Amino acid sequence: MKEINMIDAPKYVDERVKIGAWLTNKRSSGKIAFLQLRDGTAFFQGVVVKNNVAEETFELAKELRQETSMWVTGVVHEDSRSKFGYELEVEDIEVVSESNDYPITPKEHGIDFLMDHRHLWLRSSRPHAIMRIRNEIIRATYEFFNKEGFTKVDSPILTGSAPEGTTDLFHTEYFDRDAYLSQSGQLYAEAGAMAFGKVFTFGPTFRAEKSKTRRHLIEFWMIEPEMAFMHQDESLEIQEQYIAFLVQNVIDNCATDLETLDRDVEQLKKYTKLPYPRISYDEAIELLQKNDFDVQWGADFGSPEETFLADHFEQPVFVLNYPKAIKPFYMKPHPTRDDVVICADLLAPEGYGEIIGGSERAVDYDYLLDQIKKAGLDPKEYSWYLDLRKYGSVPHAGFGLGLERAITWITGEDHVREAIPFPRLLNRIYP
Ligand code: 4AD
Ligand code: MG
Repeated sequence: MKEINMIDAPKYVDERVKIGAWLTNKRSSGKIAFLQLRDGTAFFQGVVVKNNVAEETFELAKELRQETSMWVTGVVHEDSRSKFGYELEVEDIEVVSESNDYPITPKEHGIDFLMDHRHLWLRSSRPHAIMRIRNEIIRATYEFFNKEGFTKVDSPILTGSAPEGTTDLFHTEYFDRDAYLSQSGQLYAEAGAMAFGKVFTFGPTFRAEKSKTRRHLIEFWMIEPEMAFMHQDESLEIQEQYIAFLVQNVIDNCATDLETLDRDVEQLKKYTKLPYPRISYDEAIELLQKNDFDVQWGADFGSPEETFLADHFEQPVFVLNYPKAIKPFYMKPHPTRDDVVICADLLAPEGYGEIIGGSERAVDYDYLLDQIKKAGLDPKEYSWYLDLRKYGSVPHAGFGLGLERAITWITGEDHVREAIPFPRLLNRIYP
């Protein structure tokens, strides 16, 4: 008999199959038992009819506990009433391993309890749907950058550099010297761009942020494309095409998961329309001041400001050219203004804030050296990076997408911790 994954049920209608599954819930009457099952690929119902199975099988079905693992044998049927659309008419059950007193029951649990049991909570339908969408976004990311001619170049996790400032560095020992966990792969991606033209890195990044917000993780994953011979306006086009591609692929390939999450697909479709609006930082400040925000030119935006700005538009919005003083050392200075740099943040609608940060890069050796010193960094640590400006420096631009921020927005979740299997938060490193 064929062992299948339940996700493939449409191919096996009316056939007898065998599936390795866990029990999530059940109810039974005297004559029939409904088993709520999951096999990792789908959540589905198994129906055990007393009169059609051996007496022991029906008795066993009634005794099964939540999360007991088993082989179930039966016939696949279409079932238009269920969300999944197929069910299994069970003929036989073989228990693999019992489960007693599973801590996560169908009742409501508090967030701390669920976070403590994250290793088990991942089995539940909501996190399952979110992680499948995460997987789709990662898959679509590789597809997008491959079709656009990018090469993936991996950046190190242990490093001596601090591209995004020294305040939130994760310090560690590296034998007899100091090292940090990577805040960003960007500087290495720039080296990669000078070797391969268009590259992207994708890896974990670390920020020892002391802030406890629904947008911040201590450990998060970042996709960082970097393109040689490219200016900021072309980079913005790639960014919007990439985001629209991700949203479209989630709509196309994760319909059941979006339904599980009650995500409004019509809303998501708006985000596939290009181009996205662009406003300058100056215009953003004006807009905020007109709407009674107490914010002065030069300030960075907090979450209320970002939410207001994004709500002003139907699509994600690029905010261009922030003050030099609040942005990292590597950004290209504006050609006619001293006070801003050539950069953009992409703000997501519905209150999700900044999902992309990017810029054109400074190309002049002396300017960059000066910026490194002004940032209080040790030029010796950046001498390899400065080499990129010594040997055939070219215009180049890049950006970083925070994977979990993008997932949180696309899935419509409230908190970024839901977008990663095992979140690392302020005061949480378990499980
Ligand atoms: O804006 P950031 O700090 O930019 C960089 O790191 C650049 N080096 C990227 C580049 O140009 N290659 O971070 C980029 C994105 C943010 O827009 C946000 O989506 C995400 O990373 N991010 C975080 N996500 C979760 N938790 C945190 N603590 C995050 N910090 C940044
Ligand atoms: Mg940023």
